[in-house]
Amino acid sequence: MNEVRIGVIGTGVMGTDHARKLAGGIPGARLTAVQDFAADRASALAQELGVLAIAEADALIADAEVDAVLVCSPDGTHAALGLKAIAAGKPVLIEKPVAAERGEVEALMRAEMAAGRKLVQVGYMRRFDPGYAEMRRVVASAEVGSPLFMHCQHRNESSPSYLTSELIIANSAGHEFDAARFVLGEEIVAATVISPPEPRHAPGRQPQFIVLQSASGTVVDIEVYTDARYGYDVQAELVCEEGTVRLRPGPPTSLRHAARDGLVVPPDWRARFADAYRLQFESWVRSIVTGQSNEGSTAWDGYMTLLVTEACLKAWSTGNRIAVEQPERPAFYQG
Ligand SMILES: NC(=O)c1ccc[n+]([C@@H]2O[C@H](COP(=O)([O-])OP(=O)(O)OC[C@H]3O[C@@H](n4cnc5c(N)ncnc54)[C@H](O)[C@@H]3O)[C@@H](O)[C@H]2O)c1
Repeated sequence: MNEVRIGVIGTGVMGTDHARKLAGGIPGARLTAVQDFAADRASALAQELGVLAIAEADALIADAEVDAVLVCSPDGTHAALGLKAIAAGKPVLIEKPVAAERGEVEALMRAEMAAGRKLVQVGYMRRFDPGYAEMRRVVASAEVGSPLFMHCQHRNESSPSYLTSELIIANSAGHEFDAARFVLGEEIVAATVISPPEPRHAPGRQPQFIVLQSASGTVVDIEVYTDARYGYDVQAELVCEEGTVRLRPGPPTSLRHAARDGLVVPPDWRARFADAYRLQFESWVRSIVTGQSNEGSTAWDGYMTLLVTEACLKAWSTGNRIAVEQPERPAFYQG
């Protein structure tokens, strides 16, 4: 196969952005179809991009013009759609989180192992952000010694009303859980959560401060504040024995205007991680064409991130430090 024809399920915020990227020239990829529960949304996007709108997700997965599937529907639908793609023998990139429940990921992994080849990638795109990739390289090379701390900050301008304190842990913080595992190259073994008061302009939603510890002892702290008002601002700094590595996000220029001098902060993740999403698709398509695995998050990575999430939710509700379960990694997911 030297061209991968892709169908997108779910054409909301992420699905629309991803479909436009795929239609706009990812080497080796061709967007052929889109589908959404809301048929008019899918039809409008299909018309804009000159592709097919398909009424049902099952029909999109089965379509002869679709070689690989991108799942961008809500979290609770991910695993079932992933299972259908595996049953059809088609590679599937599932937006994060891989599933809402651990049993669903276990079923997904069983199906993938039975299929005998890796078909699932999870959309933790920060793995393709050059900054996180460099942090991982620095840790692996040990050029500034072993990591001691990883400080992470995840701020959004504002959030939808359905986002609860719990969902900040269960959905928003997942990117940091996966990034910490990726950068440190080892599992997270324990979690603690402390919550400050709700901000007055976002009642019912506490920001979260999460402290994780990795298998060799590195301490990872994560601030998640989804109502920061000024923009989308993700930062990370790794402190090693003999030096530090800090992400340098932001635009290549600074703006002077109206008595201010500074950097423009992007409004949301689509602008901040535009390159990472593009690189993720390029890598996913290359891995399908070549049959070689890539650095993307596997179903196993999605599973371990879900176990970190479970431990954090328990730590939050009990106020205790909670151990993260460490199931044995199947040989299929090693290497
Ligand atoms: N990787 C990232 O940076 C990132 C960022 C935001 C959201 N996400 C993830 O992407 C997914 C989608 O988020 P979003 O913000 O685009 O949500 P959204 O609500 O904007 O879009 C979801 C779309 O899926 C459709 N839909 C619902 N059930 C469906 C089904 N069974 N089959 C087909 N379509 C269905 C809805 O009609 C809607 O158009 C979520 O799982 C979310 O966690 C990832």
